[in-house]
Amino acid sequence: MLISAIVAISENNVIGRDGHLPWRLPADLKYFKSVTIGHHIILGRKNYADIGRPLPDRVNVVLTRNNSFSAPGCVVAYSLEEALQIAKDAGETECFIVGGAAIYKEALPLCKKLYITRVLASIEGDVQMPFLGDGWVLQSEEKREADEKNAYPIIFQVFERP
Ligand SMILES: NC(=O)c1ccc[n+]([C@@H]2O[C@H](COP(=O)([O-])OP(=O)(O)OC[C@H]3O[C@@H](n4cnc5c(N)ncnc54)[C@H](OP(=O)(O)O)[C@@H]3O)[C@@H](O)[C@H]2O)c1
Repeated sequence: MLISAIVAISENNVIGRDGHLPWRLPADLKYFKSVTIGHHIILGRKNYADIGRPLPDRVNVVLTRNNSFSAPGCVVAYSLEEALQIAKDAGETECFIVGGAAIYKEALPLCKKLYITRVLASIEGDVQMPFLGDGWVLQSEEKREADEKNAYPIIFQVFERP
């Protein structure tokens, strides 16, 4: 099973603010959906709290250390290892680490594919993207200009490593 991460990062490495995404970029949400649809997504409890519901047509595996936590419509896992095993046992081919920072930090060393949306702006925030690790090779990139619904230009990048 391929383990991938998908994330949107500002020029100054910000990914979150006050428990939320620090921008409104429907073009990126659409891209996120198109990439992750039909797959297992693994997310931290705080990221789940922000989203507030399971994302449809994906198996949502929420990570928490709190064994009284429940998330209707989601699978709850108590370690990254357990979350990955759930996806593997279901026959998943590519599972997605979808954040936040705590989950990226732990999972990035295991990832072989990275989908990064570069948000071309410097954004205030309180959550930074952890170190991505070494060996990433750019496979593709596509720029999308800002418009009336998307305040910043973005670049969709895909990286892989051996
Ligand atoms: N820009 C992007 O693409 C993007 C993507 C995702 C999220 N974000 C942003 O990132 C921020 C949230 O990130 P965060 O780092 O604060 O929180 P997070 O990673 O979403 O969640 C952290 C929580 O996950 C649980 N957890 C972490 N590691 C675990 C492990 N190994 N085993 C079991 N449970 C584990 C713990 O939950 P308990 O406390 O319940 O034990 C921990 O408090 C938000 O601002 C969000 O909007 C941005």
